Amino acid sequence: MTTLSRRYHITTFGCQMNKADSERMAGILEDMGFEWSEDPNHADLILYNTCSIRDNAEQKVYSYLGRQAKRKHEQPDLTIIVAGCVAQQEGEALLRRVPELDMVMGPQHANRLKDLLQQVFDGNQVVATEPVHIIEDITKPRRDSTVSAWVNVIYGCNERCTYCVVPNVRGVEQSRTPQAIRAEMEQLGRLGFKEVTLLGQNIDAYGRDLPGVTPEGRHLHTLTDLLYYVHDVPGIDRIRFATSHPRYFTQRLIKACAELPKVCEHFHIPFQSGDNEVLKRMSRGYTHEKYRRIIDTIRQYMPDASISADAIVGFPGETEEQFENTLKLVEEIGFDQLNTAAYSPRPGTPAAIWDEQLSEETKSDRLQRLNHLVAIKATERSGRYMGRVEEVLVEDQNPKDKTQVMGRTQGNRLTFFTGDINELKGKLVKVRITEVRAFSLTGEPVEVRQVVHSLI
Ligand code: SAH
Ligand code: SF4
Ligand code: F3S
Repeated sequence: MTTLSRRYHITTFGCQMNKADSERMAGILEDMGFEWSEDPNHADLILYNTCSIRDNAEQKVYSYLGRQAKRKHEQPDLTIIVAGCVAQQEGEALLRRVPELDMVMGPQHANRLKDLLQQVFDGNQVVATEPVHIIEDITKPRRDSTVSAWVNVIYGCNERCTYCVVPNVRGVEQSRTPQAIRAEMEQLGRLGFKEVTLLGQNIDAYGRDLPGVTPEGRHLHTLTDLLYYVHDVPGIDRIRFATSHPRYFTQRLIKACAELPKVCEHFHIPFQSGDNEVLKRMSRGYTHEKYRRIIDTIRQYMPDASISADAIVGFPGETEEQFENTLKLVEEIGFDQLNTAAYSPRPGTPAAIWDEQLSEETKSDRLQRLNHLVAIKATERSGRYMGRVEEVLVEDQNPKDKTQVMGRTQGNRLTFFTGDINELKGKLVKVRITEVRAFSLTGEPVEVRQVVHSLI
């Protein structure tokens, strides 16, 4: 194979799932002898791991692709791959649009990159988008961080939210076994990682597809059971999970989070809209009252828990009054962080062809009004940290101020303080918060937690 001293570059768009896939594909490429090239223009293999959640995410890919396709005319041995969700959505149509492409591969095929590339090097143009059973990975991912790692627990999504392209591009739910997940976490603990984020598009669905039920008829493997099963992995100090669906968020799960000290008190539970009629047309399967009850229960068990979410404005037919119900929910709950987006019609989704599409003007006006409120509420929420001592897991240097390091509090607030990254990377540091902003904090170190590794 012609892989000697070849260089690769991966550009990743989209969510944490895509980031995790990119790390796996980078691991496979390095295993094949490829070396990372920071500059895509010096790479012999370019891989775009794409996102199609909204139209602007998809369009970005086409503009990047255009530039590299041109380069291929001067450098014919350049390999160009489109992976991820746009690849799955467009399939062969992508080859017609950009004939310079060597391969189009859907997210379920990330683990098969080596075999697929072999076919490319044999002179084929490859399209890999058929649904497959995702096999356990034996290659080591090339992880971007040495402190915090993603661990997939469930792939795919079985929901059918009427605006969303994910079920079309990520396929049906496939859970990994608790043993495989724990083994990966143990390995991460041995490598010195301190934090793990368990990943799934609908993580509450974890285990539904695994065999086994309890005598009471409950699934044997749920997210709650998984947390109890992995919470004591040596070396891992923090466990997070995302993304939660309000429909399946249980009191049992909330209790487990309150009980297990390593599970961070941060919950990402998208609500999408604060209006019951809109929620119904989105096929979300809950009401705003149910959503509020979940948050109340979380706060009952964990009064200081951080809550973040996603919301969409300008869903087809959304009236001003319905939009105001979203504002009302945001006002009343007080999110620590909220990802907001204007509705974008996506190919192959029901809502895209409904008549009552709103104008871009209305959508962007609503988005601005919501974002304004989000910033006010996030600043209020940040205020509670003022003067407090928070434990920060140091991840990196502050890119804007080399005298500072940065990391996250348990509740996921980005925090900066003065310190030397070489000394502090991967350490849990107690920091007194002296400055608060909407989405970040600044403080002074009080104490570095000394970790003593006992030799068993
Ligand atoms: N599985 C998660 C979200 C996955 S997609 C959940 O169920 O909540 C991430 C976010 O993108 C969604 O929460 C939603 O807010 C947004 N999103 C999805 N489809 C969209 C669309 N067509 N237009 C605008 N935003 C969208
Ligand atoms: Fe999309 Fe809904 Fe699945 Fe989330 S739960 S990925 S919004 S279909
Ligand atoms: Fe985008 Fe695919 Fe994630 S569409 S948000 S990269 S699942």
